[in-house]
Amino acid sequence: MQGVTVVDHPLVQHKLTILRNKETSTAGFRRLLREISLLLGYEVTRELELTTTTIQTPLQEMQAPTLEGKKLVFASVLRAGNGLLEGLLDLVPAARVAHVGLYRDHDTLEAVEYFFKAPGDLADRLVIVVDPMLATANSAIAAIDKLKERGATNLRFLCLLAAPEGVERFRKAHPDVPIVTAAIDDHLNDKGYIVPGLGDAGDRMYGTK
Ligand code: PRP
Ligand code: URA
Repeated sequence: MQGVTVVDHPLVQHKLTILRNKETSTAGFRRLLREISLLLGYEVTRELELTTTTIQTPLQEMQAPTLEGKKLVFASVLRAGNGLLEGLLDLVPAARVAHVGLYRDHDTLEAVEYFFKAPGDLADRLVIVVDPMLATANSAIAAIDKLKERGATNLRFLCLLAAPEGVERFRKAHPDVPIVTAAIDDHLNDKGYIVPGLGDAGDRMYGTK
Protein backbone atom coordinates (compact mmCIF):
# COMPACT_ATOMS: atom_id res chain seq x y z
CA MET A 1 0.00 0.00 0.00
CA GLN A 2 1.35 3.41 -0.94
CA GLY A 3 2.78 5.41 1.93
CA VAL A 4 2.58 2.47 4.34
CA THR A 5 5.58 0.39 5.44
CA VAL A 6 4.96 -2.87 7.31
CA VAL A 7 8.10 -3.86 9.19
CA ASP A 8 8.27 -7.61 8.64
CA HIS A 9 11.59 -8.16 10.47
CA PRO A 10 11.46 -11.52 12.32
CA LEU A 11 12.32 -9.95 15.69
CA VAL A 12 9.51 -7.41 15.30
CA GLN A 13 7.00 -10.11 14.41
CA HIS A 14 8.14 -12.37 17.27
CA LYS A 15 7.88 -9.58 19.86
CA LEU A 16 4.51 -8.50 18.47
CA THR A 17 3.16 -12.02 19.03
CA ILE A 18 4.16 -11.85 22.71
CA LEU A 19 2.58 -8.39 23.01
CA ARG A 20 -0.68 -9.73 21.55
CA ASN A 21 -0.78 -12.67 23.98
CA LYS A 22 -3.25 -11.87 26.74
CA GLU A 23 -1.10 -13.85 29.22
CA THR A 24 1.78 -11.33 28.89
CA SER A 25 2.21 -9.39 32.14
CA THR A 26 2.12 -5.61 32.48
CA ALA A 27 5.87 -5.54 33.10
CA GLY A 28 6.50 -7.80 30.12
CA PHE A 29 4.26 -5.69 27.90
CA ARG A 30 6.14 -2.48 28.78
CA ARG A 31 9.54 -4.09 28.29
CA LEU A 32 8.59 -5.54 24.89
CA LEU A 33 7.08 -2.29 23.70
CA ARG A 34 10.34 -0.57 24.51
CA GLU A 35 12.35 -3.27 22.70
CA ILE A 36 10.14 -3.22 19.61
CA SER A 37 10.28 0.58 19.47
CA LEU A 38 14.03 0.35 18.82
CA LEU A 39 13.44 -1.82 15.77
CA LEU A 40 10.54 0.28 14.47
CA GLY A 41 12.54 3.43 15.20
CA TYR A 42 15.35 2.11 13.02
CA GLU A 43 12.89 1.85 10.12
CA VAL A 44 11.10 5.17 10.61
CA THR A 45 14.43 7.07 10.72
CA ARG A 46 15.86 5.28 7.68
CA GLU A 47 15.56 8.34 5.42
CA LEU A 48 17.04 10.94 7.77
CA GLU A 49 19.33 13.21 5.81
CA LEU A 50 23.06 13.13 6.32
CA THR A 51 25.78 15.67 5.82
CA THR A 52 29.48 15.27 6.55
CA THR A 53 31.76 16.65 9.21
CA THR A 54 35.53 16.64 9.46
CA ILE A 55 36.86 14.46 12.26
CA GLN A 56 40.22 13.11 13.21
CA THR A 57 40.35 9.33 13.73
CA PRO A 58 43.42 7.97 15.55
CA LEU A 59 44.87 7.35 12.07
CA GLN A 60 43.89 10.30 9.90
CA GLU A 61 41.43 13.07 9.17
CA MET A 62 38.22 12.04 7.41
CA GLN A 63 34.90 13.42 6.19
CA ALA A 64 32.41 11.40 8.23
CA PRO A 65 28.61 11.23 7.95
CA THR A 66 26.49 12.97 10.56
CA LEU A 67 22.78 13.82 10.78
CA GLU A 68 21.82 17.02 9.01
CA GLY A 69 19.51 19.76 10.18
CA LYS A 70 17.66 20.44 13.39
CA LYS A 71 16.97 17.74 15.95
CA LEU A 72 13.87 15.72 15.11
CA VAL A 73 10.74 15.70 17.26
CA PHE A 74 8.98 12.63 18.62
CA ALA A 75 5.33 13.51 19.23
CA SER A 76 3.83 11.03 21.69
CA VAL A 77 0.05 10.57 21.65
CA LEU A 78 -0.73 10.06 25.34
CA ARG A 79 -0.88 7.79 27.11
CA ALA A 80 0.13 4.76 25.09
CA GLY A 81 2.51 6.69 22.82
CA ASN A 82 4.87 6.91 25.78
CA GLY A 83 5.41 3.16 25.54
CA LEU A 84 7.16 3.72 22.21
CA LEU A 85 8.69 7.06 23.14
CA GLU A 86 11.13 5.78 25.75
CA GLY A 87 12.91 3.38 23.39
CA LEU A 88 12.93 5.97 20.63
CA LEU A 89 14.70 8.40 22.95
CA ASP A 90 17.35 5.73 23.61
CA LEU A 91 17.84 5.61 19.84
CA VAL A 92 17.88 9.40 19.30
CA PRO A 93 18.76 10.91 22.70
CA ALA A 94 18.96 14.48 21.38
CA ALA A 95 15.44 14.42 19.93
CA ARG A 96 12.89 16.97 21.10
CA VAL A 97 9.54 15.74 22.42
CA ALA A 98 5.96 16.87 21.89
CA HIS A 99 3.09 15.49 23.99
CA VAL A 100 -0.40 15.31 22.56
CA GLY A 101 -2.96 14.30 25.18
CA LEU A 102 -5.98 12.62 23.57
CA TYR A 103 -8.45 10.01 24.70
CA ARG A 104 -11.12 8.21 22.74
CA ASP A 105 -14.66 8.88 23.87
CA HIS A 106 -15.96 5.35 24.44
CA ASP A 107 -19.35 6.05 22.87
CA THR A 108 -18.52 8.23 19.88
CA LEU A 109 -14.90 7.03 19.36
CA GLU A 110 -14.03 10.68 18.71
CA ALA A 111 -10.66 11.89 20.00
CA VAL A 112 -10.91 14.38 22.87
CA GLU A 113 -7.89 16.62 23.45
CA TYR A 114 -6.77 17.33 27.04
CA PHE A 115 -3.12 18.41 26.67
CA PHE A 116 -0.72 19.77 24.06
CA LYS A 117 2.88 20.84 24.45
CA ALA A 118 5.41 20.96 21.62
CA PRO A 119 8.63 22.72 20.66
CA GLY A 120 7.90 26.12 19.11
CA ASP A 121 9.77 25.61 15.84
CA LEU A 122 7.97 22.57 14.44
CA ALA A 123 8.15 23.98 10.92
CA ASP A 124 11.91 23.39 10.82
CA ARG A 125 11.90 19.82 12.10
CA LEU A 126 10.94 16.29 11.11
CA VAL A 127 8.08 15.28 13.43
CA ILE A 128 7.57 11.56 14.09
CA VAL A 129 4.17 10.98 15.69
CA VAL A 130 4.07 7.83 17.83
CA ASP A 131 1.10 5.83 19.09
CA PRO A 132 0.98 2.01 19.25
CA MET A 133 -2.58 1.79 17.89
CA LEU A 134 -4.18 3.12 14.69
CA ALA A 135 -7.79 1.97 14.99
CA THR A 136 -10.44 4.37 13.61
CA ALA A 137 -7.52 6.83 13.10
CA ASN A 138 -9.50 9.58 14.89
CA SER A 139 -6.66 10.08 17.41
CA ALA A 140 -3.85 10.04 14.84
CA ILE A 141 -5.72 12.41 12.51
CA ALA A 142 -6.49 14.83 15.37
CA ALA A 143 -2.87 14.73 16.61
CA ILE A 144 -1.53 15.48 13.14
CA ASP A 145 -4.16 18.20 12.51
CA LYS A 146 -2.93 19.91 15.68
CA LEU A 147 0.77 19.53 14.86
CA LYS A 148 0.17 20.92 11.36
CA GLU A 149 -1.79 23.82 12.88
CA ARG A 150 1.34 24.54 14.96
CA GLY A 151 3.52 24.59 11.83
CA ALA A 152 4.70 21.01 11.24
CA THR A 153 5.05 20.16 7.55
CA ASN A 154 7.35 17.16 7.54
CA LEU A 155 5.75 14.30 9.46
CA ARG A 156 5.79 10.51 9.80
CA PHE A 157 3.42 8.29 11.82
CA LEU A 158 4.79 5.29 13.72
CA CYS A 159 2.53 2.66 15.24
CA LEU A 160 2.62 -0.97 16.22
CA LEU A 161 -0.75 -2.16 14.95
CA ALA A 162 -3.15 -0.69 12.43
CA ALA A 163 -6.65 -1.55 11.24
CA PRO A 164 -7.24 -1.41 7.47
CA GLU A 165 -10.15 1.02 8.06
CA GLY A 166 -7.86 3.34 10.03
CA VAL A 167 -5.10 3.22 7.44
CA GLU A 168 -7.59 4.19 4.72
CA ARG A 169 -9.03 7.11 6.70
CA PHE A 170 -5.57 8.30 7.73
CA ARG A 171 -4.25 8.21 4.14
CA LYS A 172 -7.26 10.26 2.96
CA ALA A 173 -6.85 12.86 5.73
CA HIS A 174 -3.05 13.11 5.62
CA PRO A 175 -1.75 11.65 2.34
CA ASP A 176 1.57 13.45 2.88
CA VAL A 177 2.33 11.52 6.09
CA PRO A 178 3.91 8.07 5.63
CA ILE A 179 2.92 5.32 8.08
CA VAL A 180 5.32 2.76 9.55
CA THR A 181 3.69 -0.17 11.39
CA ALA A 182 4.54 -3.71 12.51
CA ALA A 183 1.24 -5.12 11.19
CA ILE A 184 -2.10 -4.32 9.59
CA ASP A 185 -4.74 -6.50 11.23
CA ASP A 186 -8.01 -7.87 9.92
CA HIS A 187 -10.68 -5.37 10.92
CA LEU A 188 -12.17 -3.10 13.59
CA ASN A 189 -14.95 -4.50 15.74
CA ASP A 190 -18.16 -2.58 16.55
CA LYS A 191 -16.49 -1.05 19.62
CA GLY A 192 -13.59 0.29 17.57
CA TYR A 193 -11.06 -2.33 18.73
CA ILE A 194 -8.51 -3.76 16.34
CA VAL A 195 -9.10 -7.50 15.68
CA PRO A 196 -7.23 -9.71 16.43
CA GLY A 197 -5.24 -6.82 17.94
CA LEU A 198 -3.79 -6.78 21.43
CA GLY A 199 -6.58 -5.14 23.43
CA ASP A 200 -6.29 -1.69 24.97
CA ALA A 201 -2.63 -0.71 24.69
CA GLY A 202 -2.74 1.97 27.43
CA ASP A 203 -4.47 -0.36 29.89
CA ARG A 204 -2.06 -3.21 29.17
CA MET A 205 0.98 -0.91 29.57
CA TYR A 206 -0.10 0.63 32.82
CA GLY A 207 -2.20 -2.16 34.36
CA THR A 208 -5.33 -0.01 34.46
CA LYS A 209 -8.95 -1.15 34.06
C1 PRP B 1 -5.80 4.39 22.23
C2 PRP B 1 -4.52 4.37 21.43
C3 PRP B 1 -4.74 5.46 20.41
C4 PRP B 1 -6.22 5.35 20.15
C5 PRP B 1 -6.40 4.65 18.84
O1 PRP B 1 -5.77 5.45 23.13
O2 PRP B 1 -3.35 4.58 22.18
O3 PRP B 1 -4.40 6.76 20.86
O4 PRP B 1 -6.77 4.58 21.21
O5 PRP B 1 -7.74 4.61 18.50
P1 PRP B 1 -8.36 5.46 17.30
O6 PRP B 1 -7.46 5.22 16.12
O7 PRP B 1 -9.71 4.85 17.12
O8 PRP B 1 -8.43 6.89 17.70
P2 PRP B 1 -6.91 5.72 24.21
O9 PRP B 1 -7.85 6.74 23.71
O10 PRP B 1 -7.49 4.42 24.66
O11 PRP B 1 -6.11 6.44 25.37
P3 PRP B 1 -4.88 5.93 26.27
O12 PRP B 1 -3.66 5.86 25.39
O13 PRP B 1 -4.79 7.03 27.26
O14 PRP B 1 -5.24 4.61 26.87
N1 URA C 1 -7.02 1.55 21.10
C1 URA C 1 -6.41 0.47 21.65
O1 URA C 1 -5.63 0.59 22.62
N2 URA C 1 -6.69 -0.75 21.13
C2 URA C 1 -7.51 -0.92 20.09
O2 URA C 1 -7.70 -2.07 19.64
C3 URA C 1 -8.13 0.22 19.54
C4 URA C 1 -7.85 1.44 20.06
